Amino acid sequence: MITIEQRPSIQLDPTAKLVSESRSDSSRIMDAADQNIFGKVSGTTIFDIMDKVGGECAIHHSGCPCVTAYSDAISFRRPVNVGDKLHAEAHLTYVGDTSMEARIRLERENIFTGEREHSHTGYIVFVALGKDGKPTKVPRLIPETAEEQREFDRGEQRERERKNRRNCGDFE
Ligand SMILES: CC(C)(COP(=O)(O)OP(=O)(O)OC[C@H]1O[C@@H](n2cnc3c(N)ncnc32)[C@H](O)[C@@H]1OP(=O)(O)O)[C@@H](O)C(=O)NCCC(=O)NCCS
Repeated sequence: MITIEQRPSIQLDPTAKLVSESRSDSSRIMDAADQNIFGKVSGTTIFDIMDKVGGECAIHHSGCPCVTAYSDAISFRRPVNVGDKLHAEAHLTYVGDTSMEARIRLERENIFTGEREHSHTGYIVFVALGKDGKPTKVPRLIPETAEEQREFDRGEQRERERKNRRNCGDFE
């Protein structure tokens, strides 16, 4: 078995970083300002939480200011109530030259019982900006576990699909 230091990706780029180094999380009790007109936590609140915690992963990895470039699907599995605590956990799944894809997973917690349930998963792409405000190269990403490698391969596939969609003019 080869050690991490022996991996070709590390030797090609000594600045390469582990997926685990990108990890970030946050937790917050939902309040009245987070709700939609039907009294549930709104989609914009959910996206805001995902964007912030995912953006933190991109900053950890690149060490640069990062902008949100693309939201690649969010699955809203369960509604969240005002008074629930929302826990977010994120890590990078795939990195290109200047872009980084984060996977963000949310769990809602009933603070009276402590019961936690998976509520949302989403993928957001961030781009690192250099001092000139233009996209800048980021370190390579090193998947350490079989699951991280599987996510990396899926991320690479999604990146190809995103580029195809842009090239086909879906977003013009
Ligand atoms: C994201 C942005 C910096 C890309 O700039 P650009 O000049 O188009 O950059 P490039 O064409 O050189 O692409 C740079 C990288 O971004 C990726 N990218 C660009 N637009 C993208 C999009 N719409 N979706 C996903 N990835 C995108 C490219 O695939 C490329 O990735 P790679 O280097 O890993 O291969 C620019 O489109 C932008 O500033 N968008 C607005 C961002 C914003 O305001 N976000 C909300 C506030 S944070």
